[in-house]
Amino acid sequence: MKALGFESTAHTFGVGIYDSDSDSVLSNKKAFYKSLGEGIVPRKAADHHAANGAKVLKEALAEAKIALDDVDIFSYARGPGLGPCLKTGYAAAKFLSISHKKPLVPVNHCHAHIEASRWDLEMENPLALYVSGGNTQIVSGSMEAAGSAHGRKIFAPPFSVLGETLDIGVGNLFDTFARSLGEEFAHGSILATRAEKGKKYIDLPYTVKGMNFAFSGLLTAATKKIGAAGVNSDDLCFSLMETAFAELCEAAERALLLSRKKELLVAGGVAQNMALCGKLRAMAEDNGVKFGVADNQFNADNGAMIARTGFVQFKRGVKESAKLNGIEQKWRIDEVE
Ligand code: FE2
Repeated sequence: MKALGFESTAHTFGVGIYDSDSDSVLSNKKAFYKSLGEGIVPRKAADHHAANGAKVLKEALAEAKIALDDVDIFSYARGPGLGPCLKTGYAAAKFLSISHKKPLVPVNHCHAHIEASRWDLEMENPLALYVSGGNTQIVSGSMEAAGSAHGRKIFAPPFSVLGETLDIGVGNLFDTFARSLGEEFAHGSILATRAEKGKKYIDLPYTVKGMNFAFSGLLTAATKKIGAAGVNSDDLCFSLMETAFAELCEAAERALLLSRKKELLVAGGVAQNMALCGKLRAMAEDNGVKFGVADNQFNADNGAMIARTGFVQFKRGVKESAKLNGIEQKWRIDEVE
């Protein structure tokens, strides 16, 4: 069975193809909207997706060496995300499912990051730290016998959010701070490079409440210190990241001990940060827990994770319905069925 997935929640328009017979990703293509000097403007990003969508779809089919007629399931990211962007992926998937008379499967973007990472890492039932621009959550799921794939149980809903940001996502923290420093693009990686040059820790607000955490006080305090006498901006980058990552580690460790999970994965755009992965790995090893981070292609926004998760949900009997259709900008992972 071949599943084709559309990702269009924010800056990326991605098309991926997953083949369940070989249990492999056949292709994972994307086009990326670059917003210079401003955050993502939803309308502009959606225009970019509409202009580039057909090209990305053609590239994905060519690399997978299949035609649209060979696709068995069309899936799309239903949310959470930016409304105008979500609609581009939905329109494409809906049109193709009708014209090719194939099922349409709505997929939750956060579920897809976690499922693709779990699949790539060959984990069974991990605790997931999901870190991206708009979302930062600690998620647990359960194993479902029904609808197994490849003779194995499926990691499935209901998902529980054991902890989450009380204000902004950790990626949003880094993007906003980097723009305040005058950086143009790829904010997280630029900040990480500057943080590596930082040597001195500057005291900044640290907010963890149980398994929840917050970053806006940290952002405000760090931004106020930019250009202050005696403050080196690389030290500031180092201190900002160090504080944010320590918050995430403390909350994730608490959730690990509570849930008694034996595997921990980190997924989402910020999971590409080596410093964060190093801290989580050390914390997991201290607790005798297996740690993993998937191939970067699954941490960046991509269509293959939507395709893989579309397949999993289809096997569980999920497809478009009166209750589950269109787009949902604020669709939480703990609302997924
Ligand atoms: Fe994402």
